[in-house]
Amino acid sequence: MDYKAFIEEQIASLRETVKDGLAINALSGGVDSSVVTVLGHRSLGKRLKTVFIDNALMRKGEPERVVKIFAKMKIPVELVDAKADFLGALKGLTDPEEKRNAVTNTFYAKVFGRLVRETGARFLLHGTILTDIEETVAGIKRQHNILAQLGIDPEKEYGYKVLEPLQALRKDGVRKVAKILGLSPELAKRIPFPGPALATRIVGEVTEERLEVVREATDIVEKELGKSRAFQYLAVLLNDKATGIREHRREFGQIIVVRCLNSVDARTATVTKIPWDKLNRISKRITSIKGVNRCLYDLTPKPPATIEYI
Ligand code: XMP
Repeated sequence: MDYKAFIEEQIASLRETVKDGLAINALSGGVDSSVVTVLGHRSLGKRLKTVFIDNALMRKGEPERVVKIFAKMKIPVELVDAKADFLGALKGLTDPEEKRNAVTNTFYAKVFGRLVRETGARFLLHGTILTDIEETVAGIKRQHNILAQLGIDPEKEYGYKVLEPLQALRKDGVRKVAKILGLSPELAKRIPFPGPALATRIVGEVTEERLEVVREATDIVEKELGKSRAFQYLAVLLNDKATGIREHRREFGQIIVVRCLNSVDARTATVTKIPWDKLNRISKRITSIKGVNRCLYDLTPKPPATIEYI
Protein backbone atom coordinates (compact mmCIF):
# COMPACT_ATOMS: atom_id res chain seq x y z
CA MET A 1 0.00 0.00 0.00
CA ASP A 2 1.10 3.58 -0.70
CA TYR A 3 0.76 4.98 2.83
CA LYS A 4 1.48 8.58 1.85
CA ALA A 5 -1.34 8.50 -0.67
CA PHE A 6 -3.54 6.82 1.94
CA ILE A 7 -2.94 9.72 4.36
CA GLU A 8 -3.75 12.35 1.73
CA GLU A 9 -6.94 10.52 0.75
CA GLN A 10 -8.14 10.28 4.34
CA ILE A 11 -7.39 13.95 5.05
CA ALA A 12 -9.36 15.01 1.96
CA SER A 13 -12.21 12.64 2.65
CA LEU A 14 -12.65 13.80 6.26
CA ARG A 15 -12.77 17.43 5.13
CA GLU A 16 -15.35 16.62 2.52
CA THR A 17 -17.57 14.75 4.96
CA VAL A 18 -17.36 17.07 7.98
CA LYS A 19 -17.48 20.28 5.89
CA ASP A 20 -17.91 23.17 8.34
CA GLY A 21 -19.40 20.95 11.06
CA LEU A 22 -17.76 19.76 14.26
CA ALA A 23 -16.26 16.33 14.92
CA ILE A 24 -15.12 14.74 18.17
CA ASN A 25 -12.67 11.96 18.78
CA ALA A 26 -11.71 10.05 21.87
CA LEU A 27 -8.01 9.64 22.31
CA SER A 28 -6.74 6.79 24.47
CA GLY A 29 -3.06 7.21 23.63
CA GLY A 30 -2.90 3.91 21.79
CA VAL A 31 -1.41 4.02 18.32
CA ASP A 32 -4.82 3.75 16.56
CA SER A 33 -6.51 6.64 18.31
CA SER A 34 -3.29 8.68 18.27
CA VAL A 35 -3.04 8.34 14.49
CA VAL A 36 -6.71 9.30 14.12
CA THR A 37 -6.13 12.35 16.32
CA VAL A 38 -3.17 13.61 14.29
CA LEU A 39 -4.82 12.79 10.96
CA GLY A 40 -8.06 14.45 12.12
CA HIS A 41 -6.31 17.61 13.30
CA ARG A 42 -4.38 17.90 10.04
CA SER A 43 -7.61 17.58 8.17
CA LEU A 44 -10.05 19.54 10.34
CA GLY A 45 -7.95 21.71 12.64
CA LYS A 46 -10.17 23.40 15.24
CA ARG A 47 -13.24 21.62 13.87
CA LEU A 48 -12.02 18.49 15.66
CA LYS A 49 -12.40 18.34 19.42
CA THR A 50 -10.28 15.65 21.05
CA VAL A 51 -11.18 14.25 24.44
CA PHE A 52 -9.56 11.71 26.70
CA ILE A 53 -12.29 9.84 28.52
CA ASP A 54 -11.13 8.74 31.94
CA ASN A 55 -13.17 5.55 32.29
CA ALA A 56 -11.44 4.39 35.51
CA LEU A 57 -10.02 1.48 33.50
CA MET A 58 -6.79 3.06 32.31
CA ARG A 59 -3.22 2.29 33.34
CA LYS A 60 -1.22 4.09 35.99
CA GLY A 61 -0.86 7.82 35.24
CA GLU A 62 -2.15 7.27 31.70
CA PRO A 63 -4.72 10.11 31.35
CA GLU A 64 -2.29 12.84 32.43
CA ARG A 65 0.60 11.38 30.40
CA VAL A 66 -1.39 11.26 27.16
CA VAL A 67 -2.71 14.81 27.54
CA LYS A 68 0.87 15.99 28.09
CA ILE A 69 2.30 14.21 25.02
CA PHE A 70 -0.33 15.78 22.78
CA ALA A 71 0.09 19.20 24.34
CA LYS A 72 3.70 19.01 23.13
CA MET A 73 2.34 18.46 19.61
CA LYS A 74 0.07 21.51 20.10
CA ILE A 75 -3.04 19.34 20.03
CA PRO A 76 -5.33 20.26 22.93
CA VAL A 77 -6.98 17.27 24.63
CA GLU A 78 -9.79 17.69 27.13
CA LEU A 79 -9.88 15.24 30.03
CA VAL A 80 -13.42 14.00 30.67
CA ASP A 81 -14.05 12.34 34.02
CA ALA A 82 -16.46 9.47 33.38
CA LYS A 83 -15.16 7.10 36.06
CA ALA A 84 -18.47 6.84 37.89
CA ASP A 85 -20.39 6.09 34.65
CA PHE A 86 -18.18 3.14 33.76
CA LEU A 87 -17.79 1.70 37.25
CA GLY A 88 -21.55 1.93 37.74
CA ALA A 89 -22.26 0.14 34.45
CA LEU A 90 -19.79 -2.66 35.25
CA LYS A 91 -21.00 -3.23 38.78
CA GLY A 92 -22.10 -6.80 39.40
CA LEU A 93 -21.23 -8.03 35.87
CA THR A 94 -19.09 -11.14 35.43
CA ASP A 95 -19.94 -12.38 31.93
CA PRO A 96 -17.22 -11.27 29.44
CA GLU A 97 -19.61 -10.17 26.70
CA GLU A 98 -21.85 -8.36 29.17
CA LYS A 99 -18.81 -6.51 30.47
CA ARG A 100 -17.78 -5.55 26.93
CA ASN A 101 -21.34 -4.42 26.19
CA ALA A 102 -21.44 -2.31 29.33
CA VAL A 103 -18.25 -0.50 28.32
CA THR A 104 -19.48 -0.03 24.73
CA ASN A 105 -22.89 1.31 25.75
CA THR A 106 -21.49 3.62 28.40
CA PHE A 107 -19.01 4.98 25.90
CA TYR A 108 -21.29 5.49 22.90
CA ALA A 109 -24.67 6.17 24.43
CA LYS A 110 -23.99 7.79 27.77
CA VAL A 111 -20.64 9.58 27.71
CA PHE A 112 -20.47 10.37 24.01
CA GLY A 113 -24.16 11.10 23.83
CA ARG A 114 -23.62 13.69 26.55
CA LEU A 115 -20.59 15.22 24.79
CA VAL A 116 -22.44 15.43 21.50
CA ARG A 117 -25.39 17.19 23.15
CA GLU A 118 -23.05 19.62 24.88
CA THR A 119 -20.94 20.46 21.82
CA GLY A 120 -23.32 19.99 18.91
CA ALA A 121 -20.82 17.70 17.15
CA ARG A 122 -22.26 15.57 14.39
CA PHE A 123 -19.33 13.24 13.79
CA LEU A 124 -17.32 10.85 15.88
CA LEU A 125 -13.90 9.92 14.52
CA HIS A 126 -12.88 6.45 15.53
CA GLY A 127 -9.69 4.38 15.26
CA THR A 128 -11.35 1.11 14.24
CA ILE A 129 -8.93 -1.12 12.31
CA LEU A 130 -9.49 -4.07 10.01
CA THR A 131 -8.70 -6.73 12.66
CA ASP A 132 -11.44 -5.31 14.92
CA ILE A 133 -13.97 -5.61 12.12
CA GLU A 134 -12.89 -9.09 11.05
CA GLU A 135 -13.03 -10.55 14.55
CA THR A 136 -16.42 -9.05 15.21
CA VAL A 137 -17.84 -10.26 11.91
CA ALA A 138 -16.38 -13.73 12.52
CA GLY A 139 -18.18 -13.72 15.87
CA ILE A 140 -14.95 -14.29 17.80
CA LYS A 141 -15.30 -11.27 19.96
CA ARG A 142 -17.43 -8.19 20.04
CA GLN A 143 -14.77 -5.53 19.76
CA HIS A 144 -15.56 -2.43 21.64
CA ASN A 145 -15.58 -0.05 18.69
CA ILE A 146 -17.68 -1.88 16.14
CA LEU A 147 -21.18 -0.65 15.48
CA ALA A 148 -22.14 -0.81 11.81
CA GLN A 149 -20.98 -4.40 11.48
CA LEU A 150 -23.35 -5.35 14.26
CA GLY A 151 -26.29 -3.63 12.62
CA ILE A 152 -26.20 -0.60 14.93
CA ASP A 153 -26.89 2.71 13.21
CA PRO A 154 -25.18 5.31 15.43
CA GLU A 155 -26.85 8.21 13.66
CA LYS A 156 -30.30 6.84 14.44
CA GLU A 157 -29.42 5.56 17.88
CA TYR A 158 -27.06 8.18 19.24
CA GLY A 159 -27.46 11.16 16.91
CA TYR A 160 -23.98 11.19 15.41
CA LYS A 161 -22.16 9.63 12.48
CA VAL A 162 -19.09 7.45 13.05
CA LEU A 163 -16.11 7.97 10.72
CA GLU A 164 -13.40 5.30 10.68
CA PRO A 165 -10.44 6.44 8.57
CA LEU A 166 -8.24 3.45 9.53
CA GLN A 167 -10.65 0.68 8.73
CA ALA A 168 -8.57 -0.62 5.81
CA LEU A 169 -5.41 -1.04 7.90
CA ARG A 170 -4.04 -3.63 10.30
CA LYS A 171 -1.78 -2.79 13.24
CA ASP A 172 1.43 -2.93 11.21
CA GLY A 173 -0.10 -0.53 8.65
CA VAL A 174 -1.21 1.88 11.38
CA ARG A 175 2.36 1.95 12.73
CA LYS A 176 3.67 2.82 9.25
CA VAL A 177 1.16 5.67 8.99
CA ALA A 178 2.15 6.82 12.50
CA LYS A 179 5.77 7.02 11.42
CA ILE A 180 4.97 9.03 8.31
CA LEU A 181 2.79 11.41 10.35
CA GLY A 182 5.79 11.98 12.64
CA LEU A 183 4.30 10.57 15.85
CA SER A 184 6.90 10.15 18.58
CA PRO A 185 8.25 6.60 18.99
CA GLU A 186 6.57 6.47 22.42
CA LEU A 187 3.22 6.66 20.59
CA ALA A 188 4.06 4.86 17.35
CA LYS A 189 5.61 1.89 19.12
CA ARG A 190 3.14 1.68 21.98
CA ILE A 191 1.98 -1.86 22.59
CA PRO A 192 -1.70 -2.52 21.80
CA PHE A 193 -4.12 -1.80 24.62
CA PRO A 194 -7.78 -2.74 24.15
CA GLY A 195 -10.65 -0.24 24.11
CA PRO A 196 -12.33 -1.73 27.20
CA ALA A 197 -8.91 -1.31 28.81
CA LEU A 198 -8.24 -3.06 32.14
CA ALA A 199 -11.79 -4.48 32.11
CA THR A 200 -10.46 -7.07 29.61
CA ARG A 201 -7.77 -8.03 32.12
CA ILE A 202 -10.04 -8.84 35.03
CA VAL A 203 -11.84 -12.16 35.05
CA GLY A 204 -15.01 -11.69 37.10
CA GLU A 205 -16.35 -8.44 38.48
CA VAL A 206 -14.58 -5.15 37.82
CA THR A 207 -14.35 -3.18 41.06
CA GLU A 208 -12.11 -0.32 42.11
CA GLU A 209 -10.12 -2.60 44.42
CA ARG A 210 -9.59 -5.24 41.72
CA LEU A 211 -8.66 -2.53 39.21
CA GLU A 212 -6.03 -1.29 41.62
CA VAL A 213 -4.43 -4.77 41.78
CA VAL A 214 -4.37 -5.30 38.01
CA ARG A 215 -3.18 -1.72 37.43
CA GLU A 216 -0.19 -2.25 39.71
CA ALA A 217 0.62 -5.63 38.09
CA THR A 218 0.32 -4.06 34.62
CA ASP A 219 2.75 -1.35 35.62
CA ILE A 220 5.29 -3.94 36.79
CA VAL A 221 4.94 -6.06 33.62
CA GLU A 222 5.19 -3.06 31.30
CA LYS A 223 8.29 -1.75 33.06
CA GLU A 224 10.00 -5.16 33.22
CA LEU A 225 9.21 -6.13 29.62
CA GLY A 226 9.41 -2.67 28.06
CA LYS A 227 12.68 -3.56 26.30
CA SER A 228 11.60 -7.07 25.26
CA ARG A 229 10.45 -5.91 21.80
CA ALA A 230 7.51 -8.27 22.11
CA PHE A 231 4.26 -7.35 20.35
CA GLN A 232 2.26 -7.18 23.57
CA TYR A 233 2.68 -7.93 27.28
CA LEU A 234 0.09 -7.76 30.00
CA ALA A 235 -1.15 -8.83 33.40
CA VAL A 236 -4.50 -10.44 34.14
CA LEU A 237 -6.30 -10.86 37.44
CA LEU A 238 -8.05 -14.20 37.77
CA ASN A 239 -11.28 -14.79 39.61
CA ASP A 240 -9.87 -17.72 41.60
CA LYS A 241 -7.87 -17.60 44.78
CA ALA A 242 -5.07 -19.78 46.07
CA THR A 243 -3.53 -20.57 49.42
CA GLY A 244 -0.19 -19.04 50.26
CA ILE A 245 1.92 -17.92 53.19
CA ARG A 246 2.70 -14.33 54.09
CA GLU A 247 4.47 -13.23 57.22
CA HIS A 248 4.15 -16.77 58.64
CA ARG A 249 0.42 -16.73 58.12
CA ARG A 250 -1.83 -18.60 55.81
CA GLU A 251 -3.29 -16.31 53.16
CA PHE A 252 -6.00 -17.05 50.60
CA GLY A 253 -4.73 -14.71 47.92
CA GLN A 254 -5.20 -13.42 44.40
CA ILE A 255 -3.64 -14.87 41.24
CA ILE A 256 -2.06 -12.80 38.48
CA VAL A 257 -1.29 -14.21 35.04
CA VAL A 258 1.48 -12.64 32.96
CA ARG A 259 1.28 -12.83 29.20
CA CYS A 260 3.93 -11.82 26.64
CA LEU A 261 3.46 -12.44 22.92
CA ASN A 262 5.09 -12.08 19.55
CA SER A 263 2.82 -11.18 16.68
CA VAL A 264 2.61 -9.01 13.58
CA ASP A 265 -1.08 -8.19 13.41
CA ALA A 266 -2.67 -9.85 16.48
CA ARG A 267 -4.48 -12.42 14.34
CA THR A 268 -2.12 -15.11 15.57
CA ALA A 269 0.52 -14.88 18.28
CA THR A 270 3.28 -17.00 19.78
CA VAL A 271 4.54 -16.90 23.34
CA THR A 272 7.79 -15.03 23.97
CA LYS A 273 10.68 -16.96 25.51
CA ILE A 274 11.44 -14.78 28.50
CA PRO A 275 14.72 -15.45 30.32
CA TRP A 276 14.18 -17.33 33.57
CA ASP A 277 15.75 -14.60 35.71
CA LYS A 278 13.42 -12.03 34.24
CA LEU A 279 10.39 -14.23 34.93
CA ASN A 280 11.53 -14.72 38.50
CA ARG A 281 11.95 -11.00 39.00
CA ILE A 282 8.49 -10.30 37.62
CA SER A 283 6.99 -13.00 39.85
CA LYS A 284 8.74 -11.60 42.90
CA ARG A 285 7.53 -8.07 42.23
CA ILE A 286 3.97 -9.12 41.43
CA THR A 287 3.62 -11.26 44.52
CA SER A 288 4.67 -8.28 46.59
CA ILE A 289 1.41 -6.55 45.63
CA LYS A 290 -0.89 -6.67 48.63
CA GLY A 291 -3.14 -9.72 48.55
CA VAL A 292 -1.45 -11.37 45.53
CA ASN A 293 0.40 -14.59 46.31
CA ARG A 294 0.67 -16.35 42.94
CA CYS A 295 2.08 -15.27 39.61
CA LEU A 296 1.70 -17.50 36.53
CA TYR A 297 3.23 -17.22 33.05
CA ASP A 298 0.75 -18.17 30.33
CA LEU A 299 2.28 -20.50 27.69
CA THR A 300 -0.70 -20.54 25.32
CA PRO A 301 -0.34 -19.14 21.79
CA LYS A 302 -3.21 -17.63 19.76
CA PRO A 303 -4.96 -19.78 18.70
CA PRO A 304 -6.31 -21.57 20.68
CA ALA A 305 -6.18 -18.71 23.23
CA THR A 306 -6.92 -15.10 22.42
CA ILE A 307 -4.50 -12.44 23.60
CA GLU A 308 -6.82 -10.93 26.21
CA TYR A 309 -8.77 -12.95 28.79
CA ILE A 310 -12.15 -11.31 28.22
P1 XMP B 1 -7.62 -10.87 21.22
O1 XMP B 1 -7.79 -10.91 22.70
O2 XMP B 1 -8.91 -10.90 20.48
O3 XMP B 1 -6.99 -9.47 20.88
O4 XMP B 1 -6.65 -11.91 20.72
C1 XMP B 1 -6.44 -9.13 19.64
C2 XMP B 1 -5.82 -7.76 19.76
O5 XMP B 1 -6.87 -6.78 19.89
C3 XMP B 1 -6.79 -6.11 21.14
N1 XMP B 1 -8.17 -6.00 21.60
C4 XMP B 1 -8.94 -4.91 21.39
N2 XMP B 1 -8.65 -3.74 20.82
N3 XMP B 1 -10.85 -3.01 21.26
C5 XMP B 1 -9.61 -2.79 20.77
O6 XMP B 1 -9.36 -1.68 20.26
C6 XMP B 1 -11.20 -4.16 21.86
O7 XMP B 1 -12.33 -4.34 22.30
C7 XMP B 1 -10.18 -5.17 21.93
N4 XMP B 1 -10.17 -6.42 22.43
C8 XMP B 1 -8.92 -6.91 22.21
C9 XMP B 1 -5.93 -7.00 22.03
O8 XMP B 1 -5.27 -6.26 23.04
C10 XMP B 1 -4.98 -7.59 21.02
O9 XMP B 1 -3.91 -6.75 20.70
